[in-house]
Amino acid sequence: MKNKLVLSIPVALLLNLPVFGQFSKAYQDSISRYTQIDYDQMLGQLRIQRSELRPGPSGNPKDANAANSTEANVNQYTLPNALLLKNGQKVNSAKDWVEKKRPELIDGFEREIYGRLPRAIPAVRWNVVSVRDTMVGNQPIREKILKGIVDNSAYPSIRVEINMVVATPAKATNAVPLVMEFGFIRSPFNPGPIKAIGLGSSGEPAWQEQLISRGWGYAILEPSSIQADNGAGLTRGIIGLTNKGGYRKPDEWGGLRAWAWGASRALDYLATDKDVDVKRVAIEGLSRYGKAAVVAMVFEPRFSLGFIGSSGAGGVKILRRVFGEQIENLTSSGEYHWFAGNFIKYGSKLKPDDMPVDAHELVALCAPRPVFISSGSPQVEGQWVDAKGMFLGAAHAGPVYRLLGKKDLGTMEFPKLGTPLVEGDIAFRQHAGGHSTGPNWSTWIAWACKYWGECN
Ligand code: GCU
Repeated sequence: MKNKLVLSIPVALLLNLPVFGQFSKAYQDSISRYTQIDYDQMLGQLRIQRSELRPGPSGNPKDANAANSTEANVNQYTLPNALLLKNGQKVNSAKDWVEKKRPELIDGFEREIYGRLPRAIPAVRWNVVSVRDTMVGNQPIREKILKGIVDNSAYPSIRVEINMVVATPAKATNAVPLVMEFGFIRSPFNPGPIKAIGLGSSGEPAWQEQLISRGWGYAILEPSSIQADNGAGLTRGIIGLTNKGGYRKPDEWGGLRAWAWGASRALDYLATDKDVDVKRVAIEGLSRYGKAAVVAMVFEPRFSLGFIGSSGAGGVKILRRVFGEQIENLTSSGEYHWFAGNFIKYGSKLKPDDMPVDAHELVALCAPRPVFISSGSPQVEGQWVDAKGMFLGAAHAGPVYRLLGKKDLGTMEFPKLGTPLVEGDIAFRQHAGGHSTGPNWSTWIAWACKYWGECN
């Protein structure tokens, strides 16, 4: 039996509105209050006392408890071997990887970190709200606004309506490849032109324009319309709907998995859209949406390519590495909602070393499909995301890619800023800008051309 949240829920939560600083203090206060209630009940299920939680380091380099940003002070750690089974046997063939090791890793990531999907998730019906011919920069596009309406007949008081925009070149005559971004769409709270994360900041055309001028399309999927980005919302959104408004159990999905599930449903729609070639769809996102992008890539085999931007801790950065953001930050009440409740154990009674998996194995689970890991410059973006930790996540996935007959990063040495490592099926580039995928788009597109063609 699930406990019911008896207190009344703030209206904005009921409506699943996005939360990015545009709300009143009273609204923010109620989000924090309900987040603490949800967090406390999860701690109760895990039998963890608040006093048993280890505090995470600060993201402000000036603070006394600032996160480590000195390479010389990084700890010694041992990574789990991605090619060793739990029973000690070596994985020597692609068959053993697929049949034995992959399921072990999936089980570890689901149970301990990202959570499992519930058995029955209601269906999504996609409605095309509008279609129009318009422009993105200098490029004519056909733009469709869509709503994915989740069947809530089993629990009508929670409504989930997924927002997405799909744009393809107006002059395209065939189905085109497309990049799906976890991002922001115009809304009453986000007026004006589409301003997505990753918009070119260096004088380059916006990413949307770069894709369209190649003859490719883009989609923007709004994560907050699937699942709110806070703990208070866990009894609402798609997670709350499947629990009929009750709390999660410790191994159930968190926000990242829910956003990734939404991306799979968005792909279901794209498979029906004659303007899009569903065999050539990539997933892209930055930061928390970069984490969601790699989770989507792992759990949705139909994504052909990945563009994982500054995903940091909880994304492709090695979690055992003491540099930048740490597990204790992820398991705090501000971020635990991205994960399964079980993950909180590793910020309290258990240590990072106790985890059955680490981020290099998350990258390995994308194999054999090509994945591009992106980061900014520490001088501009800061050290919180741990660019080298993400590089190592990519580099240590190499043995799995090689076993599957694919090309690894080509080096185990952290490259100089700006160096594109794009010869392999795992790619990496640290651009000179800030917390954005923006300056890496042209490099990503050139790399994607190897796989998608149409590059003249
Ligand atoms: C915080 C958080 C990161 C996250 C980032 C973002 O900095 O600690 O894990 O990636 O927000 O999404 O912008």
